[in-house]
Amino acid sequence: MKVSKTYPLKLNVNGEWKKAEVTPRETLLHVMRERLSHTEVKEGCGKGDCGACAVLLDGKPVNACLTLALQADGQRVVTLKGIGTPDKPHPLQESFIKKGAIQCGFCSAGMIVTAKGLLDKNPKPSREEIGKAISGNLCRCTGYKKIIEAIEEAALKLRRTKNDRR
Ligand code: FES
Ligand code: FES
Repeated sequence: MKVSKTYPLKLNVNGEWKKAEVTPRETLLHVMRERLSHTEVKEGCGKGDCGACAVLLDGKPVNACLTLALQADGQRVVTLKGIGTPDKPHPLQESFIKKGAIQCGFCSAGMIVTAKGLLDKNPKPSREEIGKAISGNLCRCTGYKKIIEAIEEAALKLRRTKNDRR
């Protein structure tokens, strides 16, 4: 039996450095879920069509199923759990719940991660810009309207919080 050579991988996941030995063919999705137990990174289509597996890689949303783990070596990975937790939810998570933008929940992790990537670089996106940002994230339940409203509401809340701090 042929055994694939492995290489050391170092990732900063939600602020913590993690190490693994991976083969060149392993995807970031596989490593996150199977080796680092970050099952909040969801597996959907596995071929770049649904956005369920989105993570922020050095601040930019990427599909983890299309990213080779070794391509991410030395970089920062942020998952849904790095954005907020049940005890300390992010405004995006609060708005998704409040607006009914989470139904079956299959798309939600990827959607929120993608929205976070958008709001970090564009705190006041138009509806069109939000639509464009989430165009790679498939939702079979909500018709997108509630998701877009939730992102708008979170953006407003984040801008207000920032202004209050000034
Ligand atoms: S699982 Fe990665 S895009 Fe669908
Ligand atoms: S809430 Fe079901 S796929 Fe989006």
